[in-house]
Amino acid sequence: MIAREEIAQIVQEFETDLAQAGSAEALEKIRIKYLGRKSRLSRMFAKIPSLPPREKGVLGKELNVTKQKIAAKLEEKSQQNAQAEEGMDLTFPGEKISHGGRHLLSRVLEDICTTFENLGFSVKEGAEIDDEWHNFSALNIPLEHPSRDVFDTFYLNLPAQGKGKLLLRSHTSPSQIHFMEEASPPFAIVSPGRVYRPDQVDATHSFMFHQVEGFAVSEHIRFSDLKGVLLRFAKTYFGPGVELRFRPHFFPFTEPSAEVDISCFSCAARDSDEKCSICKGSRWIEILGCGMIHPHVLSACKIDPQRYRGFAFGMGVERIAMLRYRIPDIRLFYENDVRFLEQFRS
Ligand code: DAH
Repeated sequence: MIAREEIAQIVQEFETDLAQAGSAEALEKIRIKYLGRKSRLSRMFAKIPSLPPREKGVLGKELNVTKQKIAAKLEEKSQQNAQAEEGMDLTFPGEKISHGGRHLLSRVLEDICTTFENLGFSVKEGAEIDDEWHNFSALNIPLEHPSRDVFDTFYLNLPAQGKGKLLLRSHTSPSQIHFMEEASPPFAIVSPGRVYRPDQVDATHSFMFHQVEGFAVSEHIRFSDLKGVLLRFAKTYFGPGVELRFRPHFFPFTEPSAEVDISCFSCAARDSDEKCSICKGSRWIEILGCGMIHPHVLSACKIDPQRYRGFAFGMGVERIAMLRYRIPDIRLFYENDVRFLEQFRS
């Protein structure tokens, strides 16, 4: 056999053996078989001195190159085996580390609070577990009011503590009471947090959601201050072109009271006759309730209603986030589906 063919045959056999070698011992056997003293390559080396001078150099070179190739392949395979044993393949593409971010609701909550902080408000949180006094009575909500019903409020199965039964607050308005019981005017506060209601869950209702309450008390506050603050908020948060509409309404804890709508930013942007899916064609979107704090509420907190007056407002955070980011279903906020959440990563 010509030397070159023999070398090719050796290399081919080596490749076949190598492919099957799963352990370090098997590799060692292969090394001895192909590179050892008694290997075919060594025997071919031994024949070199008897060759004609012209062929000596050529074959010697070829044998050396082949030896080096075999040694390199053995080394490579031995490294691969070691990595496989550790369950690791360094040639594999790395795992992408996904980093988290703030939840869209946390961001909206913070943005709302920041907007009011820039207007001079301070942020103070209330308590999620509260009592009937703070959630209802002090807010001028009478005993017979339907919101006190067990169908509208989660009562806790715990002993009452002198301020009525314990409950999960059904709105953030009790933050007004907690703060005003301790503080003396003037002050301007926003209070964000979770609220709970035994509502059937659907695309727009949840048994838990978030509100931001705002209130300010001083000797001089007027309804026009409330309007100015809310208008500034709406323009900052929804865009400078937004207008506000105050509709007379009733809340037990404010007098007079109003519901506030913003002009539909979607219609205004699209400027078409097609019925808008956000405002349903009315051109206005309700965003919050507000009013002048009822004198009974100030009295309940030992603030003299003859001397002081205040305004208050309360808004639903999910509702505002759904409007602003066009989210069709409230449940998306709570399901923790990354496909939803990462669209709003900040
Ligand atoms: N607490 C009301 C609710 O949960 C919202 C609200 C309306 C808060 C009017 C206020 C207000 O402070 O003045 O529906």
